[in-house]
Amino acid sequence: MDQVGNDTRTIGVFDSGVGGLSVLHHIRDTLPEARLVYVADSGHVPYGGRSAAFIEARAMALTRFLLSQGAEAIVIACNTATAAAALPLRKQFSKIPFIGMEPAIKPAVAATQSNVVGVLATVGTLESARFAALLEKYAGSVKIVTQGCPGLVEVVERGDLHSVEARRLVERYTAPLLQAGADTFILGCTHYPFLAPLIREVVGGQIALIDTGAAVARELKRRVDTELPPRVKLGEVGNETFHTSGDVARATRIVSQLWGADAVVEALPLVFR
Ligand code: DGL
Repeated sequence: MDQVGNDTRTIGVFDSGVGGLSVLHHIRDTLPEARLVYVADSGHVPYGGRSAAFIEARAMALTRFLLSQGAEAIVIACNTATAAAALPLRKQFSKIPFIGMEPAIKPAVAATQSNVVGVLATVGTLESARFAALLEKYAGSVKIVTQGCPGLVEVVERGDLHSVEARRLVERYTAPLLQAGADTFILGCTHYPFLAPLIREVVGGQIALIDTGAAVARELKRRVDTELPPRVKLGEVGNETFHTSGDVARATRIVSQLWGADAVVEALPLVFR
């Protein structure tokens, strides 16, 4: 059987860096037989302060790479890239199911007791038209307090999940949400679930932390089951391949740390960088 084999489902997943690995864990649990191809666009991280046009161009290139690897469905494991590029991607590659990520406003609004929800996300996500539409649709009478978090993606990219700097940033960004009376925090960037233990230490156990990784994995499975022809050999064990547009040695270290197993990370071919 060749690498892209006919019997194995292939799912492409990309993010600006290693944040999407927080989603990949859920995908692995939900689709144990699938072959997962992950791209970290580490050569261009962070996306948070970049223009929508730049992110769209990167999303197009990464999608072309994933399709060249046999991907049949693609998870945009990045809230910022979903806000900037989900629509053009779906238009350009209309036969491919794309599953995007959005801050979990709807479940957070349902969960809050204080009627105040805090959103931690990148500036790009918070300033997007897609986020405004999400608030319009689901916020209702609940007060939504947003907080952009420059620097937080970078500490996760370094694997600094408990450093003094990470704690200082988490304290700075969560303080306004606590002050506003939020009892529910949305982790609106796929890097942030890796900081959940630190956030929990800083804000205490009474605040609910919500992210959409598990829901996205369930939605992926639903779409794979309904939209793609059956291909999975029952009992087959899936595998993962990792690629980066950045430094391979550095990515290998961080991917292995966050994936929880030794990972082989390959350089993204030059044409996609
Ligand atoms: N993981 C990306 C997200 O979900 C981070 C974006 C960035 O690189 O700033 O938004």
